Amino acid sequence: MVQSLTKEDFTSATSRLLGFKFRRCFIIEEEEEAKRSTEAMKVPQVMSMKGGVGQNSYTNNSSIQNIGISQLKHLIREAILDLYSTTFLNNLVIADLGCSSGPNTFMVLSEIIEAIDERKNECNLPLPEIFVYLNDLPGNDFNTIFHTHMARFYENLMEGKKKKLPNCFIAGTPGSFYARLFPMRTLHFVHSSYSVHWLSQVPPGLEDETGQLNKGKIYISAISPPCVFETYLKQFQKDFSQFLRFRSEEMVTGGRMILSFAGRKSGRKEYCYSFIILTQALKDMVSQGFVEEAKLDSFNIPYFSPCVEELKDVIDRENSFDLDRIERFDVVLDACVEDREKPCSEADKYKIGSIMEKGTRAMTEEMLASHFGMEILDKLFQRFREIASERWHDEQDNLLNIGVSLTRKHL
Ligand SMILES: C[S@@+](CC[C@H](N)C(=O)[O-])C[C@H]1O[C@@H](n2cnc3c(N)ncnc32)[C@H](O)[C@@H]1O
Repeated sequence: MVQSLTKEDFTSATSRLLGFKFRRCFIIEEEEEAKRSTEAMKVPQVMSMKGGVGQNSYTNNSSIQNIGISQLKHLIREAILDLYSTTFLNNLVIADLGCSSGPNTFMVLSEIIEAIDERKNECNLPLPEIFVYLNDLPGNDFNTIFHTHMARFYENLMEGKKKKLPNCFIAGTPGSFYARLFPMRTLHFVHSSYSVHWLSQVPPGLEDETGQLNKGKIYISAISPPCVFETYLKQFQKDFSQFLRFRSEEMVTGGRMILSFAGRKSGRKEYCYSFIILTQALKDMVSQGFVEEAKLDSFNIPYFSPCVEELKDVIDRENSFDLDRIERFDVVLDACVEDREKPCSEADKYKIGSIMEKGTRAMTEEMLASHFGMEILDKLFQRFREIASERWHDEQDNLLNIGVSLTRKHL
């Protein structure tokens, strides 16, 4: 018969066997573990992107992120080829954190397989087997990943190819990346695009008793009091540092990690173009009587666009990773317009406004619906599109992105 052992039984048995010191250490670890799980539970479940394959889904509205990931392909290739060529691996274990549900979910994996295939032919290397963990919050639409996007990924991969490709095993891992997700020292390569700028929670200091600290704004704005920026920065530093610490436990020494962020220019405190427009659209809804002012005052987005120095500072202080490269790049939305040589026509402005609107809606709909109610969304985003189309040309140099390439240190 198997008898279950409670935590108390186990603690007292170990303390009897190994003495009080060990027991204390065990309790401290337990407390630490409990603290970690509580941190993980703080992540708002409404933070997930809009699932499914409908017109407002992330599947159909992630072209901006897609352009960004394409611009970092060279970093991904460099890291994978370095791993593949210098350390022969029978098994390559990869995790994509904050994979969401859309065509971008498999984009990096396709790139990795292509790169391995090319290098294998050049250097006559054996093929590794690839194990991929796709991670996102439990509210993410994992069903659509495995029903729809995975089948397309395999179809595209096999298209026109007769050659042997690596065996690929793909699994979903629901959970917050601000907690441990994988066994110790198992990951060779970690990728995360446009996800780690989502915080684990709305910075607690913002929700003062009056709810007035960031009144009329939903994020850091040019006219927010300085303490709003400090509060957001502090939360980001804490979260990103934890993210690195947990990954350093899960990754092998020499393992590689590529991260991308929607970033901010150094020296500027405010900035996230989409949220500036969203704030304006919400204010317009307040003045038209569709949204209560107090509701707007109590809404803040758990998000932080870091600048290069802030990223370097956390990576440096946390100290588990060598920073191989950090690159700034622009996501040029003009790429979505047919004739890029001509000045932006009214039709082009509308098109770009519409891409911004749909992209922002897919990212924030769940959050907005849970705070303001579903019924305001169509009107709100119609207004968003109008503002985005009008203001596009003043703002487009501000869509700064940052790519980071890291190696797990030999500690
Ligand atoms: C903008 S999407 C990026 C999706 C995809 N990587 C891409 O580049 O298109 C951000 C994703 O991060 C996920 N996310 C945010 N916070 C997270 C957390 N703490 N743990 C895991 N995933 C998280 C969201 O649910 C969302 O799917």
